[in-house]
Amino acid sequence: MRIAISTGGGDAPGLNAVIRAVVLSAHNRGWQCYGIQRGFEGLLGFSGVVPLGPAEVRGITHLGGTILGTTNRGNPFRYIVKQPNGEEREIDRSDDLVAAFQASGFDALVSIGGDGSLQIANDLWKKGLPVVCVPKTIDNDVSGTQRSFGFDTAVSTATEAIDKLHSTAESHERVMVVELMGRYAGWIALNSGVSGSADVVLLPEIPFDIEKVCDKIRMREADGRHFSIVVVAEGARPRDGHIALVERRGVGTVDRLGGMGSQVARAIQDRTGKEVRTLVLGHLQRGGSPTTYDRLLALRFGAAAVRAIADCAFGCMVGLNNATITRVPLEEVVGRSRNVPLDSDTVVTARELGINLGD
Ligand code: F6P
Repeated sequence: MRIAISTGGGDAPGLNAVIRAVVLSAHNRGWQCYGIQRGFEGLLGFSGVVPLGPAEVRGITHLGGTILGTTNRGNPFRYIVKQPNGEEREIDRSDDLVAAFQASGFDALVSIGGDGSLQIANDLWKKGLPVVCVPKTIDNDVSGTQRSFGFDTAVSTATEAIDKLHSTAESHERVMVVELMGRYAGWIALNSGVSGSADVVLLPEIPFDIEKVCDKIRMREADGRHFSIVVVAEGARPRDGHIALVERRGVGTVDRLGGMGSQVARAIQDRTGKEVRTLVLGHLQRGGSPTTYDRLLALRFGAAAVRAIADCAFGCMVGLNNATITRVPLEEVVGRSRNVPLDSDTVVTARELGINLGD
């Protein structure tokens, strides 16, 4: 058996742990692994393919990032090429990819990625490529699994940041607004906001009313609490407004979200007269060593992917559901994102603790 491994899309803590588990589980079955560099680009003529054995994956479980490199511009079905006039154009290079996969004598592909990579993997599976996927994203928004690895680490980083903002907010009697990642799902903002005792948490799932947010800050003020911590998910939006974008991307990739934190900060300052500062935590949420939870989940996912290959269960994603590792058909996963249910226990808890959700 020759197994190819690819890491695609934005990186997440735990990628290296998955790679290690796949390589060791395969090696212990007498199989060989190869790493495709930079998403799928290694098979499309850029970068390359490297053999991966126990020596190559030694001591990487705790390392952030991915030893294989990644890109969120490497979709083989919508491959971006620069034309002589400088403009970018999409072409379909999926046949080149399938041909390179077959020419390399690979028997299976382990694709580790989020929604974009899962869509690519499903399309490659439909073209006959034997693929097994592992869900990766700090956003925790992949459907078919209750958890993706990387999320726990991101939430820990965000919670630590919120903890640290408390002392400076209180000393200066300021409102501190912190914008967190998560794309169109509020998992990171909700879990870290509740854990970090934020006063306001704004989620994409609950369009907010800025007056309600300001009422909370005024109430705290009247109570003698002269500071407030406001957590804003990057995908949050006002009831009567839009999501904030840093950049609308046309060709072969996704829009970049960002800017809602400073919009909310400006509105709070104008309406309450309080001094406000904004922090965009940004890619710190994707960095660093995976937490124990993420390491273990990543290792379990990697081993489960090899087990799926051993059972010839292709076209599936491994997932964590009710504390058990499951296999979910890719068809049931792609194109669906998993948002925070409004009746979830954490949302109810936030409300019962008096955290304002902007509604
Ligand atoms: O999907 C993971 C994520 O970190 C999102 O939370 C964020 O919106 C996006 O990726 C940022 O992507 P980029 O690395 O292209 O800036």
